[in-house]
Amino acid sequence: MANKAFTLTHPDTGQTSELPLVTGTLGTPAIDVRGINKDQGIFTFDPAFTSTCSCESAITYIDGENGVLMYRGYPVDQLAEKSSFLEVAYLILYGELPTPAQLDEFVEAITQHTMLNESLIKFFDGFHYDAHPMAMLTGIVGSLSAFYHDTTDINNPQHREIFARRMIAKIPTIAAAAYKHSIGQPKIYPSNDLDYCSNFLRMLFAVPAERYEVDPVAAKALDVLFILHADHEQNASTSTVRLAGSTGCNPYAAISTGIAALWGPAHGGANEAVLNMLGEIGDVSNVPRFLEKAKDKNDPFRLMGFGHRVYKNFDPRATIIRGYCHQVLEHYNMQNNQLFELALELERIALEDDYFKERKLYPNVDFYSGIIYQALGIPVNMFTPMFAIARTVGWAAHWTEMQQDPGMRIGRPRQVYTGQTQREYVPADQR
Ligand code: ACO
Repeated sequence: MANKAFTLTHPDTGQTSELPLVTGTLGTPAIDVRGINKDQGIFTFDPAFTSTCSCESAITYIDGENGVLMYRGYPVDQLAEKSSFLEVAYLILYGELPTPAQLDEFVEAITQHTMLNESLIKFFDGFHYDAHPMAMLTGIVGSLSAFYHDTTDINNPQHREIFARRMIAKIPTIAAAAYKHSIGQPKIYPSNDLDYCSNFLRMLFAVPAERYEVDPVAAKALDVLFILHADHEQNASTSTVRLAGSTGCNPYAAISTGIAALWGPAHGGANEAVLNMLGEIGDVSNVPRFLEKAKDKNDPFRLMGFGHRVYKNFDPRATIIRGYCHQVLEHYNMQNNQLFELALELERIALEDDYFKERKLYPNVDFYSGIIYQALGIPVNMFTPMFAIARTVGWAAHWTEMQQDPGMRIGRPRQVYTGQTQREYVPADQR
């Protein structure tokens, strides 16, 4: 909604433009610069999008200064405490909490879509055993587009809905199969009598030769972690999905671009990087040395799991997970877990350090999630796929929201060109 405006005066021509102020229901207003190129013949410059809103969205609200995260208006701590991952998925996709009947129908539909086409399962054989599960996830999800291309009309609301449900249903099956492939075990088919997280744990850990009982504490912990990771407005992977999706490409292909973006250590790959870092630090006595490395601008080392583009006070998800971490470790009799002790000590020392205080660098969600995953027996290279399973909800919701927007256009940033000015081609024998 636009009501007020900024006036921009060109320093050379003196020409002025009225730039409307766009305000949402909550949060920082934005200057609408869309007319600026037409009016003034200039672009705006904002590498890494530190000050740029790329769209309007009604899904998730973050107040980074005050550590607030809400899905469709509901604070994430309330959802983590009272809801379930699939109920939150419904909320994020449809905008409202479901009635019991709506939830039953949704859960049933997700449960019915968990199997993979047998031909798709064969794709895993094309990967070497040591392929990273995120590489397999990117490739296999991208391949879904080959299975559901002619049947997916992105302008058809029903097709969009089937895509979102299918994607949420199949991503745990794909992630578990990627893990099974990497350890040479047979893939476990989904079990429709189990809930979403229990089914995933079974597909990950069961072997055909033995009975497998799902630990309800593990399933609940996973459910909470999935709720906390379900969406985070215009983060790098979601923006990637939106940009790819804005071209009108197949939505499964768009989701695979999000998975690729999530993999990076500055984003979803941080949970894996945190565990690797704690392993590298090894002992509490080494913490000061690694803190110095993190502060040294000539050293590429960063404290993984610290800092966030948006949260400059604390990450509310980290606060919830931190508490959960204790409960899970207690359940597994791992209170004296060396990694957790090391993580707490690192957190304590870093939070007292001026470098981290001045830059408002606090532990983010992934500082603790890896410790819980480890307590659940989930291998380190599966940490980022866990994030991808949860974030599939957000990606699907943002893709759908964008497709529903009548004003949607292809995303196409501009640039400030710094290369050579025009020159003449020089024949090879004269160079
Ligand atoms: N360790 C040491 N210094 C850091 C760290 C860190 N983890 N994070 C930021 N800084 C420093 C930077 O060097 C910079 O210092 P300077 O002002 O003296 O140059 C300052 O803090 C600001 O950092 P930027 O990189 O400009 O912040 P940006 O918003 O671009 O990056 C990011 C945010 C990518 C999350 C960064 O903090 C980081 O790399 N953290 C570690 C990786 C991580 O945990 N990622 C997970 C993010 S959460 C998620 O995706 C779920």
